[in-house]
Amino acid sequence: SALLKVMSDAARKAARGLNRDFGELTELQVSRKGAADYVSAADIKAEQVIFEALTKARPGYGFLGEERGMVEGSDKTHTWIVDPIDGTTNFLHAIPHFAINIALEREGAIVAAVTYNPITNDLFWAEKGKGTYVNDKRLRVAARKHLDESLLATGIPYLGHGQHGRFLKELHQISQRVSGVRRMGSAALDLAWVAAGRYDGYWERDLKPWDIAAGLLLVTEAGGKVTDADGGQDMLKTGTIVAANLDLHPQLIEKLQAAQ
Ligand code: IPD
Ligand code: CA
Ligand code: CA
Ligand code: CA
Repeated sequence: SALLKVMSDAARKAARGLNRDFGELTELQVSRKGAADYVSAADIKAEQVIFEALTKARPGYGFLGEERGMVEGSDKTHTWIVDPIDGTTNFLHAIPHFAINIALEREGAIVAAVTYNPITNDLFWAEKGKGTYVNDKRLRVAARKHLDESLLATGIPYLGHGQHGRFLKELHQISQRVSGVRRMGSAALDLAWVAAGRYDGYWERDLKPWDIAAGLLLVTEAGGKVTDADGGQDMLKTGTIVAANLDLHPQLIEKLQAAQ
């Protein structure tokens, strides 16, 4: 659709700068926003490119970006939610696993999503009611029904995050029941990979709207279920997310609750 073209063009345009800077940044070009929350010139440039492309194509829409915060628009029903690099730590360490994340919110619901890994050239996209794709290929969540055969992804809290104890309890509970747990370092790609059936499920806490807004639509449009840790729909507010297929999702929630 025209909307998806606007979003994917913006992501590909920002990607050109990221591809140039990948593996080339020195520590001098990186600064800290919080204890372990890094930002580079590349994050800021990419967000600027995306902001310009989106506001040119859809003047008036609001814009919420990790690096510039909220920019109100005249149109109060639409807001872009953007993370210019999800997986900044990977990007800064020259690890080729990060993504440009763009979602469109309409009256509280995410209606379109793009998650683009410029290194692998995987462009994950979804539109509400129309399914999820990577490039031209339709995606479905994995069909595995039993936790003991599943591969999950998660995020580990790091310096400045807090809640390390609770995470270890959850990991202790869950890792005994599954065939593997991965921590690759990009919430956006974790969700895209659940949509693609590469992971069977994913959980993480303390995320921001720009980390997960696109991915929650990717997973639901691929036939999966996404909730917060209580099974509710407040993921964008609480920053807690549990995603899996319909069989595994309740099992994952149960194990997380057993860990408290
Ligand atoms: C981070 C990544 C990571 C998650 C962190 C996020 P950033 O986003 O999504 O996987 O564990 O909590 O902050 O900072 O690289 O955009
Ligand atoms: Ca960040
Ligand atoms: Ca992020
Ligand atoms: Ca980021």
